[in-house]
Amino acid sequence: MEMMKRNDALSPADPRHLAVILDGNGRWAERHGLSRVEGHREGALNVLRFIQNMQNYATEFVTLYAFSTENWKRSEEEVHALMSLLCSFLDENLETLVSNRIRLLATGRIEALPEPCRKRLALASEKTGVDFQRTLILALNYGGRSEIVDAARKIAQEAREGKLSPDQLTEESFSRYLYFPDIPDPDLLIRTSGEMRLSNFLLWELSYAELYFTETLWPDFDRSELEKAMLSYRKRNRRFGGRK
Ligand code: FPP
Repeated sequence: MEMMKRNDALSPADPRHLAVILDGNGRWAERHGLSRVEGHREGALNVLRFIQNMQNYATEFVTLYAFSTENWKRSEEEVHALMSLLCSFLDENLETLVSNRIRLLATGRIEALPEPCRKRLALASEKTGVDFQRTLILALNYGGRSEIVDAARKIAQEAREGKLSPDQLTEESFSRYLYFPDIPDPDLLIRTSGEMRLSNFLLWELSYAELYFTETLWPDFDRSELEKAMLSYRKRNRRFGGRK
């Protein structure tokens, strides 16, 4: 019994914070003879299924990379479709988020998103922010380098105003200037569709995260694929640079 307790304490449980790079909507569409926009529509439907599947785990925070600072380079039609999918996702699922006690937050340079999206995001964070157990963060117009630059700007400003001296700055105090200083760093990053890169996602916060890559395209990343990723995480031995 004593042994079992000790094993339980050693084995990492579910990640407290899971970050996901949703990739492969375009390839999914191509394989099904559909347009890229239809691939994103299926991707958005899978976001909802994924949120439901996450209820089976103890994970408190989920961050989804839904639109990067680089995604503006896509065709006008695709950018427009992504923004309108986001709007309808928020319109259609607000009640579900509230009843499942999921708080919705958005991270990134939100001020540059179209007005209808900003309005819905503000409404959704207000309505879901009252009584919640879990948090869903949508990374929108998000870039890891932009986030670090934005933090550096705030720090430089405070230094200029004499509120902060450069030698006071530590990793801990620097991280207080990031977009969400009170949300713990992700423990696990999942990227779908076979690419093995970070693509400017949460560069500071992912420093010690476990990485999990799968060939599965985002619209096909279902309950059993999620379970595989979570099982893989449980087997990892996290040392944070130390030795065990
Ligand atoms: C990557 O696939 C996916 C995106 C750039 C956008 C993700 C957006 C959604 C799932 C829909 C809207 C979001 C929400 C939260 C409702 P890709 O186009 O890069 O795929 P490819 O690499 O196969 O071309």
